[in-house]
Amino acid sequence: MLFPEKQITLKDGRSALLRSPVEEDAAEMLAFLKDCANETHFLSREIEEYTETEAEEAERLARTNASETGSMLVCAVGNEIAGNCQLSFNRLSRIRHRATIAIALRKKYWGLGIGTAMFKQMFLLAQARGVTQLELGFMEGNARARALYEKMGFRIVSYHPNAFRLKDGTLCHEYFMVCELDVEADN
Ligand SMILES: CC(C)(COP(=O)(O)OP(=O)(O)OC[C@H]1O[C@@H](n2cnc3c(N)ncnc32)[C@H](O)[C@@H]1OP(=O)(O)O)[C@@H](O)C(=O)NCCC(=O)NCCS
Repeated sequence: MLFPEKQITLKDGRSALLRSPVEEDAAEMLAFLKDCANETHFLSREIEEYTETEAEEAERLARTNASETGSMLVCAVGNEIAGNCQLSFNRLSRIRHRATIAIALRKKYWGLGIGTAMFKQMFLLAQARGVTQLELGFMEGNARARALYEKMGFRIVSYHPNAFRLKDGTLCHEYFMVCELDVEADN
C-alpha cells in the first residue's frame, strides 16, 4: 500500500519527508538496516544476518508496496533514510481488527520526533483500515522505545521470558504492548 508524501519538521528545524520506499531505495535501505543493526542490540537481526542483495531488497520493497497486508513508511532526510516503520495487517476475519507495528531509526536521528510522526501516520492508516488494536513487542531495557510507545497510548499486556539471546549470551525478555484505537466514523 502506497502512502501520500508528508513533509514534517524535525525538532532541530530540519525538514524530512515521510513516504513509501521505492525500488530505487534498495541500496540505501540495506545500508540503513545494517547501520541500525550496528547501532543498537534492540532489533531482532544481527548485522551479518542481512544477507539480501540489492535486487532482492528492491523486490521486497515492491512486494510490500503492492501488498494488502503490509505497509512500509520511511522518513527521508535529504537522500538518506533516517527511519522506517512497518505495519502488518491480518487477513483472517477473527483477527482483522489487529495489526502489528515496528520501527527503527538511524541513531543520529533519535530524539527528533521522527518516531512520534511515523506512528501518527501509521495510526491514521490503521484506523482507515478498520483496525482497532495495534500491537508490538520490545526488548527488555529499551527505555527509549518504551517511552515512545507509552506516549502513543500503548500498555504492556504480557512478556515472553528470555525471548532473545545476545551474542555475549545475555538473555532478554520481550514485552508485548497493545494500543486500542478509536473507531473511525466511517467504519
Ligand atoms: C525507539 C525509537 C524508534 C524512538 O524514536 P524517536 O524518533 O527517537 O522518538 P521521539 O523523538 O518521537 O520521542 C518519543 C518520546 O520518547 C521520549 N524520549 C526521548 N528521548 C528519550 C530517552 N533518551 N529516554 C527515554 N525516553 C526518551 C520522549 O518522551 C519523547 O516524547 P516527546 O518528544 O513528546 O518528549 C528510536 O529511538 C530507535 O529507532 N531506536 C533504535 C531501534 C529500536 O529500538 N526500535 C524499536 C524496537 S522495539
